[in-house]
Amino acid sequence: MIDPRHTDWWRDAVIYQVYPRSFADSNGDGIGDLPGITSRLDHLDRLGVDAVWLSPFYPSPQRDGGYDVADYRDVDPQFGTLADFDRLTDGAHALGIRVIVDLVPNHCSSDHPAFQAALAAASGSPQRALFHFRDGLGANGELPPNDWPCMFEGPAWTRVTEPDGTAGQWYLHLFDPSQPDWNWDNQAVRDDFESTLRFWLDRNVDGFRVDVCDALVKADGLPDWPHPTHGVVEPIDGRMPPMWDQEGIHDIFRSWRRVLDSYEGTRILCAEAWLPSERTARIVRPDEMNQAFNFAYLEQRWDAVAIRSTIISSLQANDVVGAPTTWVLSNHDVMRHASRFGYDGTVALEAGVGADDPQPDRALGLQRARAATAMMLALPGSAYLYQGEELGLPEVTDLPDDVRQDPVWERSGHRIRGRDGCRVPLPWEATKLSFGFSSVSSSDTWLPQPDYFGPYSRDSQNDDPESTLCLYRRALEIRRTLTGPIRWDESAADGTIAFARGDVKVLANVNGEPAALPEGASVILSSSPYAEPGSQVPPNTTVWFRCEEA
Ligand code: NOJ
Ligand code: CA
Repeated sequence: MIDPRHTDWWRDAVIYQVYPRSFADSNGDGIGDLPGITSRLDHLDRLGVDAVWLSPFYPSPQRDGGYDVADYRDVDPQFGTLADFDRLTDGAHALGIRVIVDLVPNHCSSDHPAFQAALAAASGSPQRALFHFRDGLGANGELPPNDWPCMFEGPAWTRVTEPDGTAGQWYLHLFDPSQPDWNWDNQAVRDDFESTLRFWLDRNVDGFRVDVCDALVKADGLPDWPHPTHGVVEPIDGRMPPMWDQEGIHDIFRSWRRVLDSYEGTRILCAEAWLPSERTARIVRPDEMNQAFNFAYLEQRWDAVAIRSTIISSLQANDVVGAPTTWVLSNHDVMRHASRFGYDGTVALEAGVGADDPQPDRALGLQRARAATAMMLALPGSAYLYQGEELGLPEVTDLPDDVRQDPVWERSGHRIRGRDGCRVPLPWEATKLSFGFSSVSSSDTWLPQPDYFGPYSRDSQNDDPESTLCLYRRALEIRRTLTGPIRWDESAADGTIAFARGDVKVLANVNGEPAALPEGASVILSSSPYAEPGSQVPPNTTVWFRCEEA
């Protein structure tokens, strides 16, 4: 059970991300749902995670995988009902697993009643003031109000047809045109989101992951920004881009902190913001959010120097504000790390891979992914896992193009394939239709599963001590005993990373020569089958070990 006195639970929590559409389907329609998740809670319990974060399951036309919310306080019928949500939360809590939901405050769906009302209302109306409506530039207002690009390609503005049929104002959408940005300068927007927070807190959620939280406040006057706005955003000439990381965001987070703190136990806020570490750290100051995703870590290529220096800079940046550092290797937006590491060098994280593109080395990628995860799970702080990575699941890099759903595929004129490859429904049982994803016998899943998913299924790995699943379970179990800060072993050979937590030592041989363990070392975890004592730790391998007292 959840113990409300355990107020620091989040500081070292392992938080498992569920992408509801792709986790488990209870009614055979090929789409994952909340009862499906509830039916598989035993998997999360046995894995040993502390919390589950659910990507959006709210009513939505699903133009951006549910990050286009039409109603913030309900469950989309395709995912179930509020009663199903309560059953899921109660079931998780009974197992001691906390529940975090996704808050999407930067934008809603264009189907949201407030946006529909804004479209129907006049320019300058209170309804339009909830969003960013502006007149266009040019003689007839035919040009967008500024030069901002949309994250899914094209301009960040769409022109509306006014109720009288004339071409009219433009509205701002940093993402898809179906995702209009809220105007956070408007107190009514702030009040409405506070009601949403309370709605879910009253239903006993343990926290919120906050989508693109760094975009809520835009610079006054929405000035042009003739620089790139994608990726980790850096200040230029001392100025942050006018749509990211504006100072005003912090007051919003402080007001949310006060709401969460008025509830029993510790409810947490986790920031999604692709910012440099020292900027992200400002979001997790003591009176703001609890933690933030460490995307700098996720972005590192398989290289010991790059990884080690990112660990050090991440810890330093968070130590300044007293927040735990988090670690993450995969999520629903990026190529799964078991495939990313199957390429040499850096890969485009969100661009997707098609069947005709160079394919990753699947075996090498998996070996490195296991080593990367074993290293990550030994680090101090909190770790995020993405569903399926505990199965060693690869990115699906050969999806047929005609099934793709990521809006960037169409927006980019079929140039950027996007993020569907990491969202393919999970395999549970190798011999069943849809690999057991649908509990009702059916082979149709909303994205097709490739044949090669079979050996990755949960049941194929359950009892195999060498499996990726058993590696994760064992790492999570031992992780609970790891205490204290990181102590670096500065004598580590080139290409390796070595450190200790308490009496557990960690040697990650990333891209070095085979490395010897010290005499008397007894290995307690190895990311790849590790031979007899005395043999060498090969590259792409992480081991945890203890040394016998002299
Ligand atoms: C980040 C989410 O993780 C991603 O899936 C989504 O497309 C954008 N934010 C927009 O909400
Ligand atoms: Ca379903």
